Amino acid sequence: MRIAVVGSGYVGLVAGACFAELGHEVILVDNVEEKVAALQRGETPIHEKFLPELLDRHRNSRIKFTSDLSAAVEKSQAVFIAVGTPPKEDGDADLSYVESVARDVARCVGSEYKIVVEKSTVPVYTSDWIRKIMVLNGANPDHFDVTSNPEFLREGTAVSDFLYPDRIVIGAESERARAMLRECYAPMTSGDYYRRPTAIPAPDAAKLPPRVIETSPKSAELIKHASNAFLAMKISFVNAVANMCEAVGADVEQVCEGVGSDNRIGRRFLYPGIGYGGSCFPKDVSAFRSVARECGYDFRLLEEVMRINDNQRDRFLRKIRKALWTLNGKKLAVLGLAFKGGTDDVRESPAIALVKSLVREGAECVCYDPAAVERARVELPTKAVTYASSPYEAAQGAHALVILTDWEEFSLLDLDRLHSALRYPIVIDGRNLYKPALMAEAGFHYHSVGRPETVPAKREVSAMNAA
Ligand code: UGA
Repeated sequence: MRIAVVGSGYVGLVAGACFAELGHEVILVDNVEEKVAALQRGETPIHEKFLPELLDRHRNSRIKFTSDLSAAVEKSQAVFIAVGTPPKEDGDADLSYVESVARDVARCVGSEYKIVVEKSTVPVYTSDWIRKIMVLNGANPDHFDVTSNPEFLREGTAVSDFLYPDRIVIGAESERARAMLRECYAPMTSGDYYRRPTAIPAPDAAKLPPRVIETSPKSAELIKHASNAFLAMKISFVNAVANMCEAVGADVEQVCEGVGSDNRIGRRFLYPGIGYGGSCFPKDVSAFRSVARECGYDFRLLEEVMRINDNQRDRFLRKIRKALWTLNGKKLAVLGLAFKGGTDDVRESPAIALVKSLVREGAECVCYDPAAVERARVELPTKAVTYASSPYEAAQGAHALVILTDWEEFSLLDLDRLHSALRYPIVIDGRNLYKPALMAEAGFHYHSVGRPETVPAKREVSAMNAA
């Protein structure tokens, strides 16, 4: 298939690279010339496992980059819209970029039949609007169909999620459009891709070939919003349970093990912490609530999901305060700035929000993150935040270590080395990366989420007394 992907953000870039990997001819379009030039030079603008390999493999053969939308659309049979849908002040999704692309596509859709595919997360009815806008801008309705093919990839594992999805959702009204979308994924649904020796390795839980769900565009649009809202609800639910555990002295990890081992509930996304962040959940829960309201349904559950999420960060701040008594003048080692491990993305990162609060209260933060420092610098333009090149350097002389992102390397720290580096042996872990008993054994005062605090088992807190 000849595919144009409009928008080279996370979804567009990963989708484009993966479609090329599946054997399609892809033109990736972005209206920011510098981005296009950087991609043509061989740069990968985001930190994403396997993405540089795929782009190197297919650059200038099966994937090309351009800012010329008309030329890309004219040559293509399928046009995927993967531009941003950022939140507006009132929580609605801003669909002006989608509308602008629909207008431009309308002008060059030509007479060869094409499908226009929504890949961005959009509210229900967007496909109807795209169609209307295209017709109003001169496109012949016999020459195109608008379809919805939502993407479920997570940052950090985006390439594997795309190539090994739990499901492929095809939302189309006509059989012709459905058949073309099926063709886009045929190497996956036939299993051919997975038999290639060069295929990106399958994640452990991959069920092959992936399941295909064929439905209407409206249902497809709802599947995407409802999936993200449900996952966010699961996280807020477990955070609320963690707060209950703290109130009664229970252990949320054990509670989640018990609850999550019910197959109907499942263990995934049942990890408490400092609240969900990123460019998707906060925006999508809020947009879904707005869409529901517009459609005449008051989806108040979603308001509570958001309230619990905001509250979770405040609770963690109180936890840090409680562990250190006062924050003014304290030096804190902060591990993690990205909104989750495996990515350099700091959009809506609870870690960034917490660092801002700590600084407001007079603390100095020495931060370490394996990938997100560049982006964090822009968000934290203050002298009170400095950056270290390792967790141990960050910990040197700090009054406490605060863990804010679930990078794997933060769960594998050399605890003796950490203990020697810190001024006070205090660890406040917002991601529950360690077993409390192990931390007590290693000589730390350990505070985590939804689990009892522990104090050093063996070592005397000499540093604390000396200070
Ligand atoms: C999310 C969805 O998981 C994807 O399926 C979806 O395609 C994507 O949004 C999107 O709409 O584009 P992503 O934002 O990359 O993916 O990140 P997640 O792995 O879902 O994590 C979101 C947030 O929830 C992070 O801050 C993470 O730390 C937090 N989280 C996740 C928890 O606090 N607990 C958990 O158990 C799981």
